[in-house]
Amino acid sequence: MDDPVERFGRWLAEAEATEVNDPNACALATVARDADGAVRPDVRMVLLKRFDASGFVIYTNLESAKGRQLADVPEAALCFHWKSLRRQVRLEGPVGPVPDAEADGYFATRPRASQLSAWASAQSRPLDRRETFEARLAEMAARYPGMVPRPPFWSGIRIVPRWIEFWEDRDGRQHHRERFDRRGEHWAMGLLYP
Ligand SMILES: Cc1cc2nc3c(=O)[nH]c(=O)nc-3n(C[C@H](O)[C@H](O)[C@H](O)COP(=O)(O)O)c2cc1C
Repeated sequence: MDDPVERFGRWLAEAEATEVNDPNACALATVARDADGAVRPDVRMVLLKRFDASGFVIYTNLESAKGRQLADVPEAALCFHWKSLRRQVRLEGPVGPVPDAEADGYFATRPRASQLSAWASAQSRPLDRRETFEARLAEMAARYPGMVPRPPFWSGIRIVPRWIEFWEDRDGRQHHRERFDRRGEHWAMGLLYP
């Protein structure tokens, strides 16, 4: 039977050839819980940086809104939409941290400007004026004239899917949906009405 992670790889490769930009962009949904315990959904775009049988990895500021939400409720969903292919992939599952060595390795591949931005951006917290951010960027550039280390508050989050669903457009809204549910070491595939 088809392996959903391999299938995802084939669909992403096709999207890399057809999308105008960022074929690895996806919506990341999290659960926000306020001080009274009320729960609310939250969602934003992120870039998928790695995927394999162990899960799907994104990188972010761990002190951002999403970072705090995932620390509080370690569950997330991802949704990819490739307009050029009229395809969607959804998945959902528990999240866990990426090992420091893996995050260090990825951070080292990023352009210097992105590395400095990771240090300078207190992501999701209020910024009084653009100039404050620019001053922090200049400060970080002076602090790290050579190699920029990974900030301790910036790392990867691995989502381990419980299920992965592949959706393909068909004429007359007669779309094709295949859902793979994790069953231990294996996956069980079933169809869903569109
Ligand atoms: C296409 C696209 C890709 C993005 N990729 C990332 C990403 O990989 N990591 C990230 O932290 N923010 C990324 N962002 C910014 C987020 O959408 C969001 O604005 C930011 O992470 C703050 O979200 P939060 O306040 O919910 O934590 C991306 C935005 C877009 C439009």
